[in-house]
Amino acid sequence: MLPLKVHPTVALTPDYDSADYREAYSRLNGIVIEGEQEAHNNYLRLAEMLPQHRDELLNAARMERRHQNGFQSCGTHLGIEADFNWAEDVFSPLRERFAAASAQEQLVPCLLIQSFVVECLAIALYNAYLPVADDFSRRVTETALKDEHEHLKLGQAWFKAHFETVKTEIQAVNQTILPIVWQILTRIGQDAARLGMDLESLEEEFTIQYGETLQDIGFSFQEVLSMSSYDNAMAA
Ligand SMILES: [Fe+2]
Ligand SMILES: [Fe+2]
Repeated sequence: MLPLKVHPTVALTPDYDSADYREAYSRLNGIVIEGEQEAHNNYLRLAEMLPQHRDELLNAARMERRHQNGFQSCGTHLGIEADFNWAEDVFSPLRERFAAASAQEQLVPCLLIQSFVVECLAIALYNAYLPVADDFSRRVTETALKDEHEHLKLGQAWFKAHFETVKTEIQAVNQTILPIVWQILTRIGQDAARLGMDLESLEEEFTIQYGETLQDIGFSFQEVLSMSSYDNAMAA
C-alpha cells in the first residue's frame, strides 16, 4: 500500500477565485508592491548617506525593485489589479518619518526604519503568507524572503560597529516607530485574515524577528523586551 501523504495546509487553502479573496488580495498585493517601492527608495537614499557602503545599498535597492516586479506579476498571474490608494495611505506615516529624518541627514532613524523595521515587516508578512499562497505567488515570495534576510545583515553590520555611540538614539527612535508598525499590522490584519493568514503569527513573527535583530547588534534580552513589547510601544 502506498503511504498516505498528509498536507497540513490543505484545509487552509483559500478559494483563490472567490470575490472576497480577490478583493483582499488586491489590497495586500498593493501593500507589498508599495512596500517594495518604499524599500527601493529608502536604499537609494541610504546609499547617499553611507557612501562607504554605496555598492551594497544600491544592490539592495535593485533587489527590492526585482521583488516589486515579482509581486506585480503575482497579481497579473491571478488576474487581479493591485489597489495602491489604500497601500499608500497605510505606508504614509512610515514614509513621512523616513523623509523627515532623511531631510535632516539623520542616519540612525533612516537605517533603523529601512534595514530593521521594513525588512522585519516584510519577513513577518511573507512568512505568514507562504502557507496560504498560490503556487506562483509562493515561489516569488520565497525568493524575496531569502533576500530580505540578507538585507537585515546590512543594517546589523553597521549598527554593531557603532553600537555604543548610537544605542540611546536607537532606543529613542524605536519608541516613535514601533507604534507606527503596530498601526500598519492592525490596518492590514483584516485583509491578511481574508487571505487565510494567521494574524497572531504575523505579529509574533515581527516581534521575534525584530527582537532577535536588536539582540544581535548588542542589546540585552531585557532591553529588547522593554523596547519591543506592544504595551511599551503603545504607551510611548
Ligand atoms: Fe524586498
Ligand atoms: Fe529588503
